[in-house]
Amino acid sequence: MEYINSLKWRYATKKFDATKTVPEEIVQRILSAANLTATSLGFQPIKIINVRPSHLREKIRSASFNQSQVTDASHLLVLCVDANFSTERVNQYIQRISTTRNLPIENLAGFENSINKWITNLKDDNSRVNWAAKQAYITLGTMLTACALEQVDSCPMEGFVPEQVSEILELQKLNLFPVLMLPIGYRAAEDANQNLPKVRVPLSEYIINI
Ligand SMILES: Cc1cc2nc3c(=O)[nH]c(=O)nc-3n(C[C@H](O)[C@H](O)[C@H](O)COP(=O)(O)O)c2cc1C
Repeated sequence: MEYINSLKWRYATKKFDATKTVPEEIVQRILSAANLTATSLGFQPIKIINVRPSHLREKIRSASFNQSQVTDASHLLVLCVDANFSTERVNQYIQRISTTRNLPIENLAGFENSINKWITNLKDDNSRVNWAAKQAYITLGTMLTACALEQVDSCPMEGFVPEQVSEILELQKLNLFPVLMLPIGYRAAEDANQNLPKVRVPLSEYIINI
């Protein structure tokens, strides 16, 4: 039951208290939760950027329709698609499984083949980025829940111009493409949205029992 109360407490924070900082150990737990998220094939085709320099956050705010959360939250996390789908990257993943689970690499040849096939079947860069972006959205969901359980406020954001954010953070060099942002911190007392009732489709309409 406790987690339902936490989920009710969470809301998309419009105004953060810029004087409050989330303690580093809590940030690390939220990032660990992100890393524990399920991804298709376990491939984790994503990276999260913790944007610390304030001058970069100012620039990103301009690329985000001037949304104040970008600069006023304690931390700004940018979820990116890692667009490296090379066979080398797949092989690194296979090596990690082998080491972590103490399995002979030969036992994983079939799985490696399946991943490479899956990626090849995603016909072009767009399809691959779309597939990876879905994993970023699942990760966002985990992070929103983790924040709520930690009583840390957050605002999921896709309201920004990805190409501009990419340029500001020089993401192309890293083969990354930004898909989501998550400012986290503490709500400002004057953020009126915290007092609004949640607007949701009633469960009786949302769930279809067949
Ligand atoms: C993927 C995604 C993108 C969103 N983008 C923005 C955004 O750019 N700016 C913003 O203020 N809210 C954004 N929101 C917040 C939604 O408007 C909000 O979650 C929704 O209205 C439900 O309200 P609640 O989260 O307070 O319950 C986004 C939410 C999601 C899930």
